[in-house]
Amino acid sequence: MSETNTQGTPRLDQRPEWHALAKHRDELAGTHLRELFASDPERADRYTLQVGDLHLDYSKHLVTDETLGLLRELAAATKVFDLRDEMFRGERVNLTENRAVLHTALRAPQSATIEVDGQNVVPGVHAVLYKMTVFADRIRSGEWTGHTGKRIRNIVNIGIGGSDLGPAMAHEVLRPYTDRGLTVRFVSNVDGADLHESVRDLDAAETLFIIASKTFTTIETITNATSARQWLLGQLGAGEEAVAKHFVALSTNAEKVAEFGIDPQNMFEFWDWVGGRYSYDSAIGLSLMVAIGPEAFRDMLAGFHLVDEHFRTAPPERNAPLLLGLLGIWYGNFHGAQSHAVLPYSHYLSRFTAYLQQLDMESNGKSVDRSGRPVDWQTGPIVWGTPGTNGQHAYYQLIHQGTKLIPADFIGFARPVAELGPLAGQHDLLMANFFAQTQALAFGKTPEEVRDEGVPEELVPHKTFRGNHPTTTILATELTPSVLGQLVALYEHKVFVQGAVWNIDSFDQWGVELGKVLAKRVEPALTEGVDVPGLDPSTTALVAKYRELRGR
Ligand code: F6P
Repeated sequence: MSETNTQGTPRLDQRPEWHALAKHRDELAGTHLRELFASDPERADRYTLQVGDLHLDYSKHLVTDETLGLLRELAAATKVFDLRDEMFRGERVNLTENRAVLHTALRAPQSATIEVDGQNVVPGVHAVLYKMTVFADRIRSGEWTGHTGKRIRNIVNIGIGGSDLGPAMAHEVLRPYTDRGLTVRFVSNVDGADLHESVRDLDAAETLFIIASKTFTTIETITNATSARQWLLGQLGAGEEAVAKHFVALSTNAEKVAEFGIDPQNMFEFWDWVGGRYSYDSAIGLSLMVAIGPEAFRDMLAGFHLVDEHFRTAPPERNAPLLLGLLGIWYGNFHGAQSHAVLPYSHYLSRFTAYLQQLDMESNGKSVDRSGRPVDWQTGPIVWGTPGTNGQHAYYQLIHQGTKLIPADFIGFARPVAELGPLAGQHDLLMANFFAQTQALAFGKTPEEVRDEGVPEELVPHKTFRGNHPTTTILATELTPSVLGQLVALYEHKVFVQGAVWNIDSFDQWGVELGKVLAKRVEPALTEGVDVPGLDPSTTALVAKYRELRGR
């Protein structure tokens, strides 16, 4: 295989910076975090960053100043910041779809100018935000009523992937900021159980469906939206004229929205330069805006923008998304780590990692480079995790004493949510776990320490913790809409950095398309028993078994 890609630049693993990192990894092998801390009393202070409200501690990583310098040299050699600037400028950095990538424009101030093909997109962004604001206020105030004149009290967002995970996650995070008089639900699964369980106790006359789909062709969403329309009209005993008061659409595809029967007046637009998994701060966030109100939504956008500006302007040594991206590369490409855990110590962040799974794994789950050639290096990690302390009583055992290297992010807050009242007293215990875990993971427990506790010799190996497990700690004062925006933007840009170094297109998702096409082909085999050409023998037999069990 040639050592350059089609643009004439050396392949990543042939670069001198890559070799330097591999050599450095070998030199550092066997160095324990205990030694790194002992040899540098300033380490805990020096290895921190402040970005907006986020305090980042990266001292518990298996790195030295030299490691960080070499990683930054790799970033410089792979021109991460050049690609960043192209993205912010609106150039078509999504090569395979020939599209600009401008989620950063969704949170740009009104005064900004960001051009795609010579057109400033910022006025359009703010026009949609204004339309969303007017609509959200009308729902929240009770001015918008349903077909029978009743006030809307239930919002059901129907969407999948990026048209579900973002608003669903953010609604969960910002529950304390929501209007508690509204019931907000999210339906994504084409399994009818999802819609059934979401609407079974709702009064249709008080229910608004928000159909969220960038393309408005996604089969799961269109199937659920069609069923929701039937349910609503059936419950109300009304004709199609009731749809206008109970259905709105969030999409880039006005034609398909109209075809479905939603008045284009009730469509909130976004654009092809917003990727699905980068879209919840666009019109896709309408359900969230209705729930938390336009002001809190704008605070969230300001949080995103703050980190966008940090990523765009901070020097490499102080640039948090760059740092987090490079640390992931250090473990994935030079230590063989396969996964990355994100462990929030906040119940409200319970869906945060699920959201990050799409953001990271759909973006960087690629195995060809930007010019279509297979990559010989690991790309995106498996992202996983659930809120602490629940995880501690489930899978932390493997992180502490298993055989795998699992870098982890710990996210926590100094203040509990005000609304918790007397339950806020539990917060210190939650956070005591937060701090104790990262200490135990980094420093472990030596056999000598175990023996000193009087543990019988045969149990010493079992009770010894090797430690040396790397973690990042992200600490903020409290979980506000702005802090959520900051956190999401931090991860968005981290994913960008990694994609840039790996030289992959982080903005397409062709792998998902194949599944969509195949499902459409297989369906007639299940329903009508028709022969589907190209079905493999195993799948053919399974389909036959399914039909038998289904009584067909
Ligand atoms: O899962 C694939 C995908 O294309 C995602 O990228 C996207 O977020 C999701 O489907 C939903 O697509 P749409 O918003 O067009 O319905």
